[in-house]
Amino acid sequence: MVQYKATMVERITLPSRADRERALERAGYNVFNLDADDVFIDLLTDSGTGTMSNEQWAALIRGDESYAGSSSFARLEDAVSDVMGFPHVVPAHQGRGAENVLYGTLLGEGDVALNNTHFDTTRAHVANQGADPVDCPVPEAAEPGSAGDFKGNFSLENGWEVVEEVGADRIPVVIQTITNNSAAGQPVSVENTRRVAEFAAEIDATFVIDACRFAENAYFVTEREAEFVEASVTAVAREQLGYADALVMSGKKDGLSNIGGFVATDDPSLADACKQRTILYEGFPTYGGMTGRDMEALAVGLREAVEREYVSDRINQIRTLADLLEDRDVPVYTPTGGHAVYLDADACFPHLPAGEFPGQALVCELYREGGVRGVELGSFAFPDTDRPELVRLAVPRRTYHREHFEHVADTAAAVLERADSVTGLSIRSEPEIPELRHFSAELEPV
Ligand code: F0G
Repeated sequence: MVQYKATMVERITLPSRADRERALERAGYNVFNLDADDVFIDLLTDSGTGTMSNEQWAALIRGDESYAGSSSFARLEDAVSDVMGFPHVVPAHQGRGAENVLYGTLLGEGDVALNNTHFDTTRAHVANQGADPVDCPVPEAAEPGSAGDFKGNFSLENGWEVVEEVGADRIPVVIQTITNNSAAGQPVSVENTRRVAEFAAEIDATFVIDACRFAENAYFVTEREAEFVEASVTAVAREQLGYADALVMSGKKDGLSNIGGFVATDDPSLADACKQRTILYEGFPTYGGMTGRDMEALAVGLREAVEREYVSDRINQIRTLADLLEDRDVPVYTPTGGHAVYLDADACFPHLPAGEFPGQALVCELYREGGVRGVELGSFAFPDTDRPELVRLAVPRRTYHREHFEHVADTAAAVLERADSVTGLSIRSEPEIPELRHFSAELEPV
């Protein structure tokens, strides 16, 4: 058994109810606008918010800050090659930097990109190239209560329908996001990855895996896919990622780091094209927007992320939070995914119509009630797509403990007790790019 003990602590405080009320109003009912000091338990994201290990902190000291040829980059390359199996690494400051580099290289005006489900920054980067992001989730992904081991899978049926409709020539890129963040963090089976790789090859598209949470995905595979029950997390990760032509990675998730990302590939000409774009947008290709010490922390983090004891502790934390919520009859998306518990806001507030953003109303109530910050991933974050009204409680890695989760569950239960009196929200102002609306729009009570 492996556990963690804290060797550094940070004080957190729960502001008074009146202060929370004022903070929410000041934030325009958008929790992205809150000061972090006003948040008690911060489940906004699992991205870059985790706790680094003592080994990672030790590695920081070794950071080689050379502009070109940094030895820290060499150590990052070695880690990516050992853990993920790809020889060419093009670094970026974080995942979306890598998305800009890769999709800017592969996509152009009028193209179509397929994905099991595009995450918001992925959708925005595809659209930014003048291409059309099309989701191909399996139907059960949108059903918060349905059973299924791999509800994150890519629907081949959907994929072929789009091919029929627009023609293979217009689809240069097929993406698989593992785990499927926008579909409640659900895992993807290796079998599905194999079939998507074949599909991409048949239509002559580059097959990209968005590997942000590859280790969590691999852990689920060892639990649920018969072929891999005896396999190590490392072996599954290597096998699954091995089907891709390229990876796009945010080191802020399963890199266990606060910042960083990269594109990885075994295709030298794709790597070269990406390097040119990284020079333009990120930095020289041996740092790409990361400091040397960031690269060191990421290199160590990647290796820690595939240790079975680490990732099993991680997945079990998410299950603990879900169990505490379910014990209090809070409706959660099941089965729980890899990095977050998703609450079903439709079931919490059946009296609120979709146009009044029940998910965002729930996010605001969780903050108002207990200083808990989650994020809406429903009709507010994804305008014009048909998806369930989910609220994500993302758990930073190696950071919170059971007592924190009990507070979160008690908070959600208290909100549900007064659910009938909760009112909806309407948008007061929003930015121009619709894909990025939920980051900065302001709302008001209806
Ligand atoms: N792809 C996926 C599947 C993601 O979840 C994210 C980020 C990115 C790409 C972009 O990476 O943040 O390093 O630029 N997801 C975070 C989240 C922000 O909260 O889910 P990034």
